[in-house]
Amino acid sequence: MTEILIKKLGAKGDGIGTLNGTEIFAPYTVPGERVDGQIVHERMEKARILEPVSLRVKPPCSHFKICGGCSTQHIERTFLAHWKQDLVRDALAKQGLETEFRASITSPTQSRRRAIFTGKRTKTGAYLGFHTRGTSQIVPIDNCVLVHPNISAGFTGLKALVKMATSRKSEVRIAVATSLGGLDISVNDALPLDNEIREQAIKIMSKHGFSRLFWNGEIIIERMAAQQQFGAARVTPPSGSFLQATQDGEAALVETVQEIVGKTKKIADLFSGCGTFTLPLAKNAEIAAFESDGTMLAALDKGWRTAVGLKKVETNTRDLFHNPLREDELKPFGAAVIDPPRAGAKAQTEFLAASSVNTIAFVSCYPATFARDARILLDGGFTLDWVQTVDQFLWSSHCELVAQFTRV
Ligand SMILES: C[S@@+](CC[C@H](N)C(=O)[O-])C[C@H]1O[C@@H](n2cnc3c(N)ncnc32)[C@H](O)[C@@H]1O
Repeated sequence: MTEILIKKLGAKGDGIGTLNGTEIFAPYTVPGERVDGQIVHERMEKARILEPVSLRVKPPCSHFKICGGCSTQHIERTFLAHWKQDLVRDALAKQGLETEFRASITSPTQSRRRAIFTGKRTKTGAYLGFHTRGTSQIVPIDNCVLVHPNISAGFTGLKALVKMATSRKSEVRIAVATSLGGLDISVNDALPLDNEIREQAIKIMSKHGFSRLFWNGEIIIERMAAQQQFGAARVTPPSGSFLQATQDGEAALVETVQEIVGKTKKIADLFSGCGTFTLPLAKNAEIAAFESDGTMLAALDKGWRTAVGLKKVETNTRDLFHNPLREDELKPFGAAVIDPPRAGAKAQTEFLAASSVNTIAFVSCYPATFARDARILLDGGFTLDWVQTVDQFLWSSHCELVAQFTRV
C-alpha cells in the first residue's frame, strides 16, 4: 500500500497526487484527501480514503461508480463548476492567453434530454443500462438522476421495444430524445424488421405516447412530429442529429450568443446544425447558416418557412473544414456565430481572423481546440473579452462554453 495526497482533479475527473515526481491518478478521490492503495501503471484504482475533506459529498445515485456515466458525483458542486472553468483557463494558458470568466451556469439534475442506453433481453423481459467504466459490462439501471423525467417515464415502453429488438444473446443501442411530440427513439443493432415486429412496435409507440421510431435506421412510425422549439420556429431534426444536451443549457447558450451579437443586422451562423442559434437570432437579424449536413439544413429551412415573424434565413450546405468561408465571403456579415465539433475550426478561424467581421460568438465543447482557435483570432487582432462556461454535463468532465471576441 502506498500513501499519497490528492492535490488536484484531472481533466477526466480523477484525483491526482504525486509519488517521487510522477503523477498518480486515483478515481473517485477529492483534492485535499490523503489516500492509500496499490499503484499500477500510475493509477490507484481502489483508493482507501484516510482523511476525507468537506468537499466530499454523498453521491445521489445508487449506480455511481458502477455505471460509467458520471465520474464526480462524490464532489461538491460549486467546486466542480470552478474545476470546469479551470479546464478552460488551463487550455487558454497553454496558448499564452487569459481572460475574465463569468459565473458558470450548470444544468440541474433531471434535465438531460437525450441519452443512449444499451438494451438487453432477460428471461422474463428486458433491461436498459449503461456500460461500466472501461469495460463491456452493462449495468442495468431503473432510474438515472440526470435524465429528463419524460425519459424516465418512458422506461417501461423502451424496455418493451428492447425485448422485441433482441435475441437472448444480442444487445441493442437505443437512443432517446425528448421532443414536443413525445420521445423520439432510434433502435440500432436490432433484429431485422419484419411485419410482426413492426406491428408490435407501433402498438408500443401508441400505448406509451412516443413520437417517432427508427429501427436500424429505417423509420417505422412518426405518430406525432418529433419537433424541437428553436425561438419562434419548430424544427423536426433528422434522427440522431445534434441537439444541445439540456434545454436549460441551450437557453443559456442562446441568450449569451444573442447578447454578443447585439443589434447586428447580418450574421453568419457557422456549424449551424438544425438552427439552435439561427432561428432565435432570426427574430432580429438576417442569418446565413452554414453546415455540412444537408438533412439538418433542410429541417432548419422547413422550420423557418413555417414560423411567423422571422427575418430572412439562408441555408448553405458546406464543409467548413475543407471549404471554409473566405474573407470576401465573410464581408457582408457584421458578426459570426461559430459552434464547431470537438475538432474545432482551425481553417475557418484563420479566415475569420483575416476578415472584416468584428464580433464573434464562439461556442465550444472542447477547451483545447477552443484555445488553439482563440490564439488564431487574437493573432488576427481580436480581443477575447470573456468566457461563459455552460455545464450541461453535470458530474462528467465535458464542458461547453461561449466566448465573446471583438475588435475595433
Ligand atoms: C456542436 S454541433 C453545433 C450545432 C448547432 N450550432 C447547435 O447548437 O445545435 C456542430 C455541428 O457541426 C456540424 N459539422 C461537423 N463537421 C462539419 C464540417 N466539416 N463542416 C460544417 N459543419 C460541420 C455538425 O453536423 C453539427 O451540426
